[in-house]
Amino acid sequence: MLVTHQQTVQEKVIHYFEGAGMDYGYWDPAFNMHFGYFRRGINPFSRAALLEQMNREVLRRLELHRCGEPLVLDLGCGLGAVSRSMALTEKRARFLGFTITPWQVSFGNELTKEEGLEDRVHLYESDFARLPLPGESADAVFAVESACYARGADKRDLVEELYRVLRPGGRFVLADGFRRHSRPLPRWLDKIYRRNMDCWALQELADIDRLVAALHECGFSHIQVEDVSWRVAPSFAHIPFVTLRFLFDIWRKGQLRNLDRERINNALAPALGMIMGLSRRHFGYYLVSGKK
Ligand SMILES: C[S@@+](CC[C@H](N)C(=O)[O-])C[C@H]1O[C@@H](n2cnc3c(N)ncnc32)[C@H](O)[C@@H]1O
Repeated sequence: MLVTHQQTVQEKVIHYFEGAGMDYGYWDPAFNMHFGYFRRGINPFSRAALLEQMNREVLRRLELHRCGEPLVLDLGCGLGAVSRSMALTEKRARFLGFTITPWQVSFGNELTKEEGLEDRVHLYESDFARLPLPGESADAVFAVESACYARGADKRDLVEELYRVLRPGGRFVLADGFRRHSRPLPRWLDKIYRRNMDCWALQELADIDRLVAALHECGFSHIQVEDVSWRVAPSFAHIPFVTLRFLFDIWRKGQLRNLDRERINNALAPALGMIMGLSRRHFGYYLVSGKK
């Protein structure tokens, strides 16, 4: 019964990412499918710079300089933009990306080839909670805005798989939106949250305390939880402009009337996400890292 439910959930995710896939190009032509990170010296009006900085922040926390030729796993890799960006900086590292969306594997591997990175970056089709890898085979693992797709409020299946595939001493980083608590939300916000989940084919965001408890219970150490909501906020401010440009383009092409549900949802979800982002008591964006 659980397997059937999980299959339906994953089919919905695949359907969403196949339907809305190319529209992520409006957010970023390099297909970084996540929010950006602001720090001093970065132009907050340059979305590309903010997105790239998020990749750098995740990379820095993986501490790859401690490894010789590290094998790094990118869980829920999308089209592999984060891995490609990291591979350009970390020339000794190899990256394996995993996504359940078959189209992302084929198109992402094509993009990788175009950048000449195919020797060090490869994407595979797999559920990140059941990776086709032996235990203790990875030096580092990260998941950027994909852990939210794992099951439950503590994302335990994913946390256990992280622990299994990491070698002792290996590090992980998760970058994602989280609930700050599991108490009931105000009714108006609960409606927005549920609609947002539906638009992005999500079941529920992780509860930060429950996720951290699961990390401890699995045996991770040096767990660091950083609330970076304000760092991410400048990239949220890009949402209305990107949405308007998308709608204008679709209207110009005469596609506005018969737009697929997935594409409408992909345009609507970030706007709802913005409202959730403003509800700081209930939601936050975190970087969570640690060591096996
Ligand atoms: C919002 S995208 C983020 C993509 C990428 N990390 C990035 O930042 O550009 C979420 C990704 O998670 C993947 N995903 C969702 N559920 C998954 C699962 N159970 N196993 C593997 N990948 C999954 C989706 O296919 C998609 O590629």
